[in-house]
Amino acid sequence: MISRVGPETSMFELALALLSSFKKEGVRLEEELSKFFRAKRALILPSGRAALYYILRSLPQKDVFLPAFNCRAVVEAVKLAKKTIHYVDVNMTDYNMDVRDLRRRIVPNSIVVATHQFGIPCDLDSIQRICRENNCTMIEDNAAAFGAKYKGRLTGTFGKAAIASFENTKTITASRGGAALFQDISLYRKAKKIYENEKIRQKLLTRIIKIVQLAIYLVSTNHTFYRLVIIPYLKRKGYYGDKGKLKVAKTPILYCEEMSGFQIKLALFQLRRVGKIIHRRTKIAEKYREALARIKSVSVYSGEIGKNPSFMRYPLLVKRGRKMDFYLAVLSHGVDLGFSFSYVCGNSVNYKYATKISEQILNLPIRSTLSDDEVDKIIEAIRMACEETK
Ligand SMILES: Cc1ncc(COP(=O)(O)O)c(C=O)c1O
Repeated sequence: MISRVGPETSMFELALALLSSFKKEGVRLEEELSKFFRAKRALILPSGRAALYYILRSLPQKDVFLPAFNCRAVVEAVKLAKKTIHYVDVNMTDYNMDVRDLRRRIVPNSIVVATHQFGIPCDLDSIQRICRENNCTMIEDNAAAFGAKYKGRLTGTFGKAAIASFENTKTITASRGGAALFQDISLYRKAKKIYENEKIRQKLLTRIIKIVQLAIYLVSTNHTFYRLVIIPYLKRKGYYGDKGKLKVAKTPILYCEEMSGFQIKLALFQLRRVGKIIHRRTKIAEKYREALARIKSVSVYSGEIGKNPSFMRYPLLVKRGRKMDFYLAVLSHGVDLGFSFSYVCGNSVNYKYATKISEQILNLPIRSTLSDDEVDKIIEAIRMACEETK
């Protein structure tokens, strides 16, 4: 059974990170991230949502515009920062903010979060133009798009600030963690000051839990283990990974507990080879597109000039029938697909395309560690499921 997600790190890297974690290299990670993104400063934080939270708290504007097809963690961070959320519908081409809808809804002097969902760059030129015309500040949610490019330039370098995430399903896997990337020094200073006042040292128990979680996650990509242990667990939960209500609570682990030494090391190891990770993911995405583009009952991202995605999740829209039926059909052929995201943020009546995508979306596995045989097996499972659900 091929798992829906898997880590980019390895047992060897984890062991090495644990052995060398006595020397905390937070400053080095911040320097290397700043260099990678040509940012003025980087600030490492406990998660991607924490990065957004501290950026928002450092900005005076009250109104925040978010795509309605979004991760719940983002909504949580904006609410915790005590901002007013305005949702914007998304488009069916790149699943990101629809610029026409943004133009209709925009309020001057607000913050616009330009999200690169799935790792596909959003329409940055148009969003920047709308921000300029309305005196708004653009922040990039780059949590899913580490290494993606827009017109030859890395996403995460266009906004006044951007966020990155090192959560276990992301392009860099560090048992959580994240970073805020700043193009504006005074914003960096404000965010750092707020965080410095609130941060706490990571508890030993948290560290142990993170190590164990990552070790289990590493083992879980073993086909037999996944079939015998993970699938029955997922079945009990109805297979979804993203159901349930949004609980707005500032959990210390996600917002205040610093990244520990071994997490920083893990992020550093992967950052130094992230080009290879992205290259392999891109190759897999190309293979999926070539193989699946002509199948009528599903839809894959067809590509746009000037956009080089760095897929963190690979989206597949199920156009015929219920996505759960399609999911189960693919599962019966030995491949587990992801569900992100099966909900709409905001009232679904107002966000037609966000609703449509949430109802139709599934994700294909895209980690760089997939072998060519596994990629072929995934394609074959999709083809067979398309035949069976006709
Ligand atoms: C687009 C996007 N932004 C932000 C986040 C939050 O990142 P984290 O889990 O590190 O808080 C996620 C999480 O999956 C995400 O997909």
